[in-house]
Amino acid sequence: TRVAIVFGGRSPEHGISCVSAGSVLAALDPDEFDVVPVGITRAGQWVLTDGDAAALAIRARQLPEITAASGADLVLRADPTGNGLLVFEPDQGPRALADVDVVFPVLHGAYGEDGTIQGMLEMAGIPYVGANVFASAAAMDKEFTKKLCAVEGIPVGPYVVLRNGMEITEEDKQRLGLPVFVKPSRAGSSFGISKVDDWAKLDEAVAAARQIDPKVLVEAAIVGREIECGVLEGEAGGAPEASVLAEVRVVGGHDFYDFEAKYIDADEACEYDIPAGLPDPVTRRVREYATRAFTALDCAGLARADFFVTPDGDIYLNEVNTMPGFTPSSMFPRMWAASGLEYPKLVDRLIRTALR
Ligand code: DAL
Ligand code: MG
Repeated sequence: TRVAIVFGGRSPEHGISCVSAGSVLAALDPDEFDVVPVGITRAGQWVLTDGDAAALAIRARQLPEITAASGADLVLRADPTGNGLLVFEPDQGPRALADVDVVFPVLHGAYGEDGTIQGMLEMAGIPYVGANVFASAAAMDKEFTKKLCAVEGIPVGPYVVLRNGMEITEEDKQRLGLPVFVKPSRAGSSFGISKVDDWAKLDEAVAAARQIDPKVLVEAAIVGREIECGVLEGEAGGAPEASVLAEVRVVGGHDFYDFEAKYIDADEACEYDIPAGLPDPVTRRVREYATRAFTALDCAGLARADFFVTPDGDIYLNEVNTMPGFTPSSMFPRMWAASGLEYPKLVDRLIRTALR
């Protein structure tokens, strides 16, 4: 099976995508898969890399970066033979993307996890791992994730959407209370997120979030534990399956589970419990909400649903990631390993599901 692993990309999560791809590349069985490792630069240029997994790691607090010098230039254009819309043309001569059996877009955030590359692959008729165009776009956007999941009976916390130019009303401030989290509606890895304890600091936080997305969410902070659940599309068309749950605790120095705590200082800043120590009825309910969210958003392949669980056992969906991180500190592969699906088997299953 010839699989294109696509990583890097135009979103602020470029470096995280590279680290995720490093883990995926290392987990692919070379006897099973003929890998085409395709990097995308921050400017959007596609390059054929050497696929060296070891080079795609965090070193000295620095994230890896795909640049034009990372490999041979690839050109995208319509395939004149009609086999697909896109052709890779490395220096060696034409090589059609249509020649790969499947694409694994290990891309996080805009132009990767939001339905754009999925649309391109649909146009080209190439199978790919993960959610389709609609689910990717819906799950990328925290406003629509909440709206679609809420109508399916999954509890979401209080929030307000500030579209471009909108300001929060006094009534909404009363309703949400302090502190609040201010988030770009479409982003990931905690980019652009601030915790606000004083309404006087809200404007600054909204401006920071708007650097990433003009649409911003202001969410009531939910006092509770951070619980995550991996979901996989059911085998042979069955119901989606939930992994064991993970709890993430931020232990030192970081105000919340922010970018640095997640990736740069993960070893010191975070403690993980897999499985999470929750009462059985709460565990069952979180897993049920996770698979329900997967279905509500029409996801495919994989997703990770993130929740807050309050001391009273109330559960709130925080968000759904259609291409969750695969980095060494990421929860998705670890939750599946703890559920009995080791990393290479997980990657294998994702690719097989895409080819079904
Ligand atoms: N957006 C990051 C990669 C995650 O959810 O794991
Ligand atoms: Mg996310």
